Amino acid sequence: MRKNKQFIHVAMIAIVLGAIAAAVAYFGNWLPAPASREAGRIWFNFWAATIVSIVIFAVVSAAIIYSVIKFRAAPDDDSDGPSVHGHTRLEIAWTIIPTIIVVLLSVASAIVLHENSKAGPNPVKIQGIAQQYAFAFKYENGVQSGILRLPLGRHAALRLTALDVIHAFWVPDFGQKQDMVPGQTMTLVVTPTRLGTYPLICSHLCGLGHSIMRTSAIVMEPAAFEKWLADQKTALAGPPGEAGKTVFTNNGCAACHAFTAAGATGAVGPSLDDLSASATAAGQPLEDFIRESIVAPNKVAAKGYPANVMPQTFAQLPKDQLDALVTYIAENGKGGS
Ligand code: CUA
Repeated sequence: MRKNKQFIHVAMIAIVLGAIAAAVAYFGNWLPAPASREAGRIWFNFWAATIVSIVIFAVVSAAIIYSVIKFRAAPDDDSDGPSVHGHTRLEIAWTIIPTIIVVLLSVASAIVLHENSKAGPNPVKIQGIAQQYAFAFKYENGVQSGILRLPLGRHAALRLTALDVIHAFWVPDFGQKQDMVPGQTMTLVVTPTRLGTYPLICSHLCGLGHSIMRTSAIVMEPAAFEKWLADQKTALAGPPGEAGKTVFTNNGCAACHAFTAAGATGAVGPSLDDLSASATAAGQPLEDFIRESIVAPNKVAAKGYPANVMPQTFAQLPKDQLDALVTYIAENGKGGS
């Protein structure tokens, strides 16, 4: 009878603690809602492990709290406690139960990892390149963009690498992180399930500009995605001035540079509106100066702007896109007009 009462007390404490822990887990908003099938599977695993942890936390802390209060020594009690010699059944239980839990969680994780690596028969293939401090995404038709665009509901097989140091691809809403390592190509499969624009972040400390190494992943309707890809291809084949504007937009130049022609107001790097004076100071024709500033930005870093902030990824641009970009900036960035 007394044991029953003890059990009820411990159980009541456990329920209260479990409820508090569950509230912290549930209302804490720890993870964004999954925006991809892969994230959904990870989310399932996360909650399975969290629920198991909450139950164990509640039971163990309830037993401790109850014992501390109920069995505490009286202030004048200097006697030794009773000598206890183990409890075989209890020891077997606390060995077998955690073993089963850990094995189940491991199996579930292995299944999720395996499923998340499947790219299906018809994935969109995208090459992702990281360099201090920007991402570049290359599509199969030659279009390159600093923003990752993905079609809804279709597997995307990202082949990720880096050119200088280790970076990492991370879209919190997709649940996955993948290191981007020079000399290696890692494949990451993403199958978006929600339209929207999500932050894409470099999650590996990679140098001075690590904190600004971020862009977006945009999930589009499949038809809109195909149209975007085709339109980009067409725009890039157009006159250099117009193609250059597309290259400028795709590669996120506006995030760092002010450039009136493109409606850009970025302030991380120098303004591109009046480059003639800088070209003269560097002793180069305008177009050559612009080209060098894009492919080897550290050669002549603009006054007041530190070196190594402008990404060197743009040296990777296909030649026609680079030419178009140079023409576009030269035509609109002469200044003085
Ligand atoms: Cu790239 Cu941090």
